[in-house]
Amino acid sequence: MRTAIIFGATSGIGKSLTEILVKDGYKIAITGRRLEKLEELKNQYPHQIRIYQNDIQQVEEVERVFHEIVQEFGSIDLVVQSSGVGYINPKLEWTNEIETIRTNVIGVTKLYDLSYNVFKQQGHGHLVGITSIASIRGNRAAPAYFSSKAYQKAYLESLYIKTKTIKSNKVFITDIRPGFVDTAMALGDGIFWMVSLDKAAKQIYSAIKKKKRVAYISKRWSMIAFVLKIVPRWVLKKAI
Ligand SMILES: NC(=O)c1ccc[n+]([C@@H]2O[C@H](COP(=O)([O-])OP(=O)(O)OC[C@H]3O[C@@H](n4cnc5c(N)ncnc54)[C@H](OP(=O)(O)O)[C@@H]3O)[C@@H](O)[C@H]2O)c1
Repeated sequence: MRTAIIFGATSGIGKSLTEILVKDGYKIAITGRRLEKLEELKNQYPHQIRIYQNDIQQVEEVERVFHEIVQEFGSIDLVVQSSGVGYINPKLEWTNEIETIRTNVIGVTKLYDLSYNVFKQQGHGHLVGITSIASIRGNRAAPAYFSSKAYQKAYLESLYIKTKTIKSNKVFITDIRPGFVDTAMALGDGIFWMVSLDKAAKQIYSAIKKKKRVAYISKRWSMIAFVLKIVPRWVLKKAI
């Protein structure tokens, strides 16, 4: 039986992907802080789901839980890192800034490193990070969120480059960059091209199966990414 870990499975993208993977026959360890949400999923699919409540800001705890899962499952085929927070924070309130950094940067780095190392040791495995279209350029309303996503994008690319040192060629790194998906996380006033959670999760799973390096969700966001990459800074300053 194929095995997976989904970090941030209590709601949104992580939860929908859990349901898809269960239907495709995976045995899955799911995590998040809200125990009752984890239990709901476990009660639906008791034979395929194990639950591990955790807060990824507590990195020592994350490491302990990760090793516990690896020990129980024996080997891990897929890790999906979907946990994250995001705040519109124009006044740069420090509580929001630091929570974003502790979760999206420090916690996520720990998860990426643990996953990469276990895949390297096994000689196979697939790490999928849910980053964002926000990873491409800066933003005045949510600087910490956009910067944290830029960090995740660069880190995943670094791990991809690093897989060159793994002789088996069976370790894969995928960066999923959603635009707007209909979850609690969809940020801001100017929301457009919002996709349903169901559609987003199906497109993400398709990208995972194809072992894509980068995938935009929905696909049309690749056009926005293209424009964002070439647009001069002064235009961003005026427009966004
Ligand atoms: N929705 C969008 O429009 C959109 C667009 C681009 C990128 N994304 C990215 O997609 C990912 C998933 O977000 P979503 O849209 O599915 O939103 P969501 O429903 O709010 O899901 C966020 C998940 O992260 C978990 N999480 C947050 N802080 C955590 C912590 N300290 N420890 C452990 N788990 C934590 C939450 O679980 P608990 O609260 O139970 O801990 C929840 O399961 C995020 O990384 C987000 O940045 C979303």
